[in-house]
Amino acid sequence: AVRLRVREALGAREPADAVRVQGWVRSVRSQKEVLFLHINDGSSLESLQVVADPSLEKRDLTFGSAVEVQGKLVKSPHRMQNMELQAETIRVVGPCDIWSFPLKMKERHPLEYVRQFPHLRCRNNTLGALLRIRSEATAGIHSFFQDNGYVHIHTPIITSNDCESAGELFQIEASSEAKESAEKTHFFNVPAFLTVSGQLHLEVMAGAFTHVFTFGPTFRAENSQSRRHLAEFYMVEAELSFTESLQDIMQVMEDLFKTVTSTVLSKCPHDVELFHKYIAPAQKSDITHKLFSSSCRISYSEAVEILKQAPQTFTFKPEWGCDLQTEHEKYLVKHCGDVPVFVVNYPYDLKPFYMRDNEDGPQHTVAAVDLLVPGVGELCGGSLREERLPFLESRLQRLGLTDACQWYLDLRKFGSVPHGGFGMGFERYLQYILGVDNIKDVIPFPRFSHSCLL
Ligand code: 4AD
Ligand code: MG
Repeated sequence: AVRLRVREALGAREPADAVRVQGWVRSVRSQKEVLFLHINDGSSLESLQVVADPSLEKRDLTFGSAVEVQGKLVKSPHRMQNMELQAETIRVVGPCDIWSFPLKMKERHPLEYVRQFPHLRCRNNTLGALLRIRSEATAGIHSFFQDNGYVHIHTPIITSNDCESAGELFQIEASSEAKESAEKTHFFNVPAFLTVSGQLHLEVMAGAFTHVFTFGPTFRAENSQSRRHLAEFYMVEAELSFTESLQDIMQVMEDLFKTVTSTVLSKCPHDVELFHKYIAPAQKSDITHKLFSSSCRISYSEAVEILKQAPQTFTFKPEWGCDLQTEHEKYLVKHCGDVPVFVVNYPYDLKPFYMRDNEDGPQHTVAAVDLLVPGVGELCGGSLREERLPFLESRLQRLGLTDACQWYLDLRKFGSVPHGGFGMGFERYLQYILGVDNIKDVIPFPRFSHSCLL
């Protein structure tokens, strides 16, 4: 018998005689003359209907059990389904105790409920759909950059730099047992951390390749229980050399977003539809917005003026020089008509050392850009980088970072070019396109929510 994935069986053009399908039972319905099963193997949202003689029913053929079915693939008489499998044999490979199994047949479990079972929730339709979308989006991101001539760089996960200088670092040390045998204070002789961003390493590579990107895990010791913060998340980062305008950076953000979103929509339409139908019903009509049919661009200074004139009062009073808070971001997005909003040129003193000085005043700014989107807030953050040695030297000196950043200063001595880049939070991207409220529902494993092993 030819082994078929459920997706292949459902999409088959022709009936086939001897096929074998493996998967998990999503429903069992036993009638007097016929036994109906639905089998899912993760290859599609839709399950394959199996039709069998009631004599094939066994006690351990239950919801959740793992099975292997052999039989004939035939045209289904049902309008909703193309093909179905007429079973000749059904083997229960792994039984499932339905009484203790936390998922129940034909129930649409809320995301909060399945979050309690991080090791079992991938058997649920919503998480299954999410994980397929996440997989396609990952591939889409790589294709976008590869197709546009970017070189992919594996930037280090363990590093001693704090790119964002925000002090949100997880420090790495050997466990106490390993430490006893080592005499030095630090495992690597210097303090080492989990990376908060691959940007500085990408900037190194942007000194030899004009277009580079990285897409990997990043870590922030924020310990925030918010709906949009994770301690471990994935970030897509790009760096472009010979770039003198923020407009170029914004264009890449927008193109990346549009291309990946179209890929996801065309590769897994049913999975996306599930989210738009059940998780965020208001989203569907909104999808054109999400494809950037329009966007808005304002400066930070304009943003502060808009906030000051807002009819509502904020918990954090808007003031030039202060960071934009979530409540401010929300208001700005609403104010601009619920479209993506680029905010450019932030105060010099608010942003990290690497951002390019706009040499303006008296309100001194840097060439930074944040992309804010409805419902999520900041999706991307980027900037032009300070490529001028004297500017960078004096800034690092004032911050007391000259010694630590000697290598970074070197990059400005040996063939420095105007360049810039950005980072996009992958989970926030998924939250935005799918309308998912809690960021913990777009990751494969919600951390520390259930068991130490996970
Ligand atoms: O704005 P951030 O901090 O920018 C950087 O790290 C730059 N070095 C990137 C670059 O220019 N190469 O982070 C970039 C994005 C944010 O806009 C946000 O979407 C996401 O990463 N992000 C988080 N996502 C989930 N949980 C967190 N704790 C996040 N912190 C940032
Ligand atoms: Mg940011």
